[in-house]
Amino acid sequence: MDEHQKILAVDDAPDNLVLLDRLLRRQGFDVAKALSGKECLAKSASEHPDLIILDVAMPEMNGFETLKHLRGNEITKDIPVIILTANSKDAKSIEEGFSLGADEYLTKPIDQDELIARVRSILRVVKAEHEIEQLKADFQSMLVHDLRSPLSVIIGVLELGAAGEFDENPAEMKEFLNSALDTSQKMLGLINDILDVAKLEAGKLQLNKQPNDVNVIVAGAVARLKVIAREKGITLKIEQDQDLPICECDGGKIDQVVTNLVGNALKFTPKDGQVTVRTSTKTYGEEAPGLKGQYIALEVADTGVGISQDEVPLIFDRYRQAKSAKGSAQKGTGLGLTIVKRVTEAHGGRVFVESALGKGTKFTVVIPAGGND
Ligand SMILES: Nc1ncnc2c1ncn2[C@@H]1O[C@H](COP(=O)(O)OP(=O)(O)OP(=O)(O)O)[C@@H](O)[C@H]1O
Ligand SMILES: [Mg+2]
Repeated sequence: MDEHQKILAVDDAPDNLVLLDRLLRRQGFDVAKALSGKECLAKSASEHPDLIILDVAMPEMNGFETLKHLRGNEITKDIPVIILTANSKDAKSIEEGFSLGADEYLTKPIDQDELIARVRSILRVVKAEHEIEQLKADFQSMLVHDLRSPLSVIIGVLELGAAGEFDENPAEMKEFLNSALDTSQKMLGLINDILDVAKLEAGKLQLNKQPNDVNVIVAGAVARLKVIAREKGITLKIEQDQDLPICECDGGKIDQVVTNLVGNALKFTPKDGQVTVRTSTKTYGEEAPGLKGQYIALEVADTGVGISQDEVPLIFDRYRQAKSAKGSAQKGTGLGLTIVKRVTEAHGGRVFVESALGKGTKFTVVIPAGGND
């Protein structure tokens, strides 16, 4: 997995360099070599290595000075560095290395397994950090876009109205105002999602539990989404267990769960597909750890694009979208399932997913019928 990552090995002893070179290449890394601090600085700027292994004891410019220069240069300041010290007892120079920004140290003679283990672990951390940075950057630009574009629609309508464009035509005004209203509601929805996730993650969401008929909640949410199903040419079916027990739950939040799941199913199912929403009662004995007693089960099954097995565990992370979603016409933020999972778990329930790429997906949410009290 780390193939073709490039490591710059720096040592004034050519024999050591040959050794490092062979060792690292055998592990599938690309290797660049430098025989002095100066050469290290030049190559680290021109070759963009992913990691530098830097000998401390070198004539002219030693490893510490080299490290100082690396950290002082915008291009090289973030490249991870492992320093090689000659003496394992030399705590002072190890200390100095860390204070100058080294990420790790190793002592000579090199233990090959240890070297490879350190190299891999540093590269892994760096890769994970990059991914998070990328995710954040993507999310921020998307969020700015998602909030700015509806706002410009609203402003556009208001500007037209203020300029008297609709003075003669109240019917047209109504049409434009309705589209502005619709856009404002979507925007508010997005802002609420973001706030909900923040609250759920901070454990600050208060559930307002009342006795609820989940069938009624499901029917309401499905009725609201019928229009979308019709527009997309998808059959939206509902199969209710008429003997469903009354459930102690937060009706508004469960509505959100149903809406998000059915909304997703409609979004990720192509024309002529089918979405089925089913309610039932489920009793768990000992078979599912953490679940025991009577539960209300809500199933949302679709014949859509599916999710690959390796991505299934990731889709509940916020801002996460599966590769199979890329073709979908409607853009999302990747918050819906985070909310579904958190709300369900706050009720003492669980979410299950079964999916096959190109065939379809089934989400099952179970919540304790007694409301987990
Ligand atoms: N029914 C489904 N079929 C196929 N993929 C799905 C389905 N539901 C969710 N996914 C995948 O999981 C990802 C995360 O879903 P989630 O609801 O959190 O985000 P979203 O729908 O993309 O955006 P948002 O819900 O914030 O508008 C989706 O982007 C999609 O890749
Ligand atoms: Mg969604």
